Amino acid sequence: MSFSDMNFFAVIPAAGSGSRMKSGTNKQFMELAGIPVIARTLSVFQKSPLITGIVISARENEIDDLLRICREYKITKLAGVVFGGDTRQMSVRNSLLFLAEKITAGEIIKTANCENLLSDSYVLIHDGARPFVCEDILERCAECVVSKKACGVGVPVKDTIKQTTVGNEILKTLDRSSLWAIQTPQAFLLDNILALHNRAYEEKKDFTDDTALLEYYGQKAFMVEGSYNNIKITTPEDIILGETILKGINFN
Ligand code: CTP
Ligand code: MG
Repeated sequence: MSFSDMNFFAVIPAAGSGSRMKSGTNKQFMELAGIPVIARTLSVFQKSPLITGIVISARENEIDDLLRICREYKITKLAGVVFGGDTRQMSVRNSLLFLAEKITAGEIIKTANCENLLSDSYVLIHDGARPFVCEDILERCAECVVSKKACGVGVPVKDTIKQTTVGNEILKTLDRSSLWAIQTPQAFLLDNILALHNRAYEEKKDFTDDTALLEYYGQKAFMVEGSYNNIKITTPEDIILGETILKGINFN
């Protein structure tokens, strides 16, 4: 598939507090083999020929540090840094609003031969804390979003999953062949996902990932094969796991 006449933007929520990491700082500034987590994440999108521009959501007091990292790692596709919100969903929405505004105002250079840049634009929403995303995943995601309109990356679960009551009584074993662990990126048509975020905002509904908005509002989204390496840096042992992945040990 040729992507040359399409626009793909990256929206990177990076405004969390990293409470489960218990490091006292935003975990995305922690280094993996000398390079900050967020720099690794951004570099994948920077290097991808698919991606036109990148918008990051950040905590207000971390914007300067983030801009310094973008300069140091030559993230030239940065289209803007916006304030994050209290939840991941709010942070994503702020970036989507900014991106749509910039595109509508003609401030983002049109790189593809599209009729209407806003409705022809796709957005890949990706956690700043997932530094092991790779070009293959971006391409699979782009292919799927172009043909199916909405998708998320994930991996089949390896464990046997049981459903219980609140009192921990085991109710049943879920059919593993239909179970996936969702990751990011998740990709959408920009105007559609922004409309759903606006609706969720008005209805005060909060979801932890973006395909959940489509599920809730009755739209289809499809699963794309991710990678077991595409971990989210969440707790202290993930730093050790991340360093192991960097040594070339593959969990694929
Ligand atoms: N995120 C964000 N804005 C928030 C909360 C989270 O932009 N208000 C981002 C995080 O920075 C992260 C991604 O969303 O890149 C996934 O969230 P998560 O792993 O939960 O990160 P934190 O919320 O920072 O961590 P914790 O839940 O342990 O506090
Ligand atoms: Mg969180």
